[in-house]
Amino acid sequence: MGKKEKKSNIMLIGFMGSGKSTLGIRLSYKLKLPVKDTDKIIEEREKMPISEIFKTKGEGYFRKLETALLTEIASKGGRSIYSLGGGTPLQLQNQGLICKCGKVFYLKASPETIYERLKGDTTRPLLMCDDPYKKIKELIEYRSPIYERCADHVICVDDKDQSQILDEILKILGEPL
Ligand code: S3P
Repeated sequence: MGKKEKKSNIMLIGFMGSGKSTLGIRLSYKLKLPVKDTDKIIEEREKMPISEIFKTKGEGYFRKLETALLTEIASKGGRSIYSLGGGTPLQLQNQGLICKCGKVFYLKASPETIYERLKGDTTRPLLMCDDPYKKIKELIEYRSPIYERCADHVICVDDKDQSQILDEILKILGEPL
């Protein structure tokens, strides 16, 4: 990806459970920038949780909302931190929009890490299946090259605590730790 404006948005992408939301909040404190979670914005607008949107209106409907929201963010510009839903970068159209929005960080986690973090979670409709580990592995294998293509920076999060990840990103951004 080309060189991005230092003042542009910070976009966090990665698989479910890779730590985008938590990291977004920590970055927001550190950089004194607003943080926004695209899943939460969609939930507020639709007045229902993501799992309910999937159930009642279908995944296709949700994906359209993601693209519409990204289009808004890309046209607004500005300097905020955005945590994106794990599936947002999958559509080709969204990949271009994400890159246009700002500097993109991919929080890369192994299937083992994700499985351990999301065991027992009931808020991710895509993982509500008989063998969530297998599903996580398959999805990550498919998605990881897409996330990497979209990213300006890949941050491996396995075996790191949140402070280490935060420091890594601050260094890349040229911000004091
Ligand atoms: C999804 C990830 C979720 C949410 C939806 C679909 C995906 O977001 O957007 O359940 O396709 O990976 P998080 O990555 O914030 O869990």
